[in-house]
Amino acid sequence: MNLIVHENYDEMSVAAAERIASIIQERPTATILPATGSTPMTAYADLSRMSDAGLLDASQVRVFQLDEYLGLAETDFRSLFAWTLRSLVAPLGIPRDRVRNLPGQASDPDAACRDYDAAIEAAGGIDLAILGLGPNGHLGFNEPPSNLDAPSRVVELTPESITSNGPYWGGTDRVPPQALTAGMSVIRDARAVLLLVSGEHKRSILERTIRGEVTPDCPSTWLQRHPNVTVFADRAAAGYLPSDN
Ligand code: GLP
Repeated sequence: MNLIVHENYDEMSVAAAERIASIIQERPTATILPATGSTPMTAYADLSRMSDAGLLDASQVRVFQLDEYLGLAETDFRSLFAWTLRSLVAPLGIPRDRVRNLPGQASDPDAACRDYDAAIEAAGGIDLAILGLGPNGHLGFNEPPSNLDAPSRVVELTPESITSNGPYWGGTDRVPPQALTAGMSVIRDARAVLLLVSGEHKRSILERTIRGEVTPDCPSTWLQRHPNVTVFADRAAAGYLPSDN
């Protein structure tokens, strides 16, 4: 894992946008697996500005949705699909038919997850996973415990994740208890992973991710085994961890 520490959130976001843009410029048909959550939002806004300025053409990019709450329609404003569309897909002008969802309202969610994994394989795999870090080490919604070979699947959210997502829902009692997630195996097989981490509240989980024992009980520690992971963190999250650049 390569840890690059930036002075603050805005600098981290600019650097992340530049990294993502350079991957797309190198491979215009890149397949990406982008997180929602608050952390990548400024990077996505920066990418959108590059696109508006004619510095980036993302129209051939393919997107696989990272995670979704079970039971939510993709048209629901609170769905992670809708969030992905309005924060990244629409601003970058990526055609809707190049976006593969994780259907929260599938009649058979397990079968839908199997189809999703097959679609990733048929697309030739993920070029770039853009991930945030859950306070319990979850990636997407791969909650602890998650094995490295876990496929995309339906998961029960942990109390910790329900608490951390409560603010997006106006209270923890409103957060759906289950979700669909791209599996750890999808992240494992991604050709590159960019993990974005910001804020003092992520400091201990970031340290554990980078230096802790590799264990299903903290799924982000599996990234230590991945050959191409770059972590962009701001100083508040990195604390005294040394930057590799
Ligand atoms: C959420 C999502 C993840 C996200 C993570 C961090 O629960 N399932 O995809 O990356 O937690 O979110 P944030 O960036 O808001 O801290």
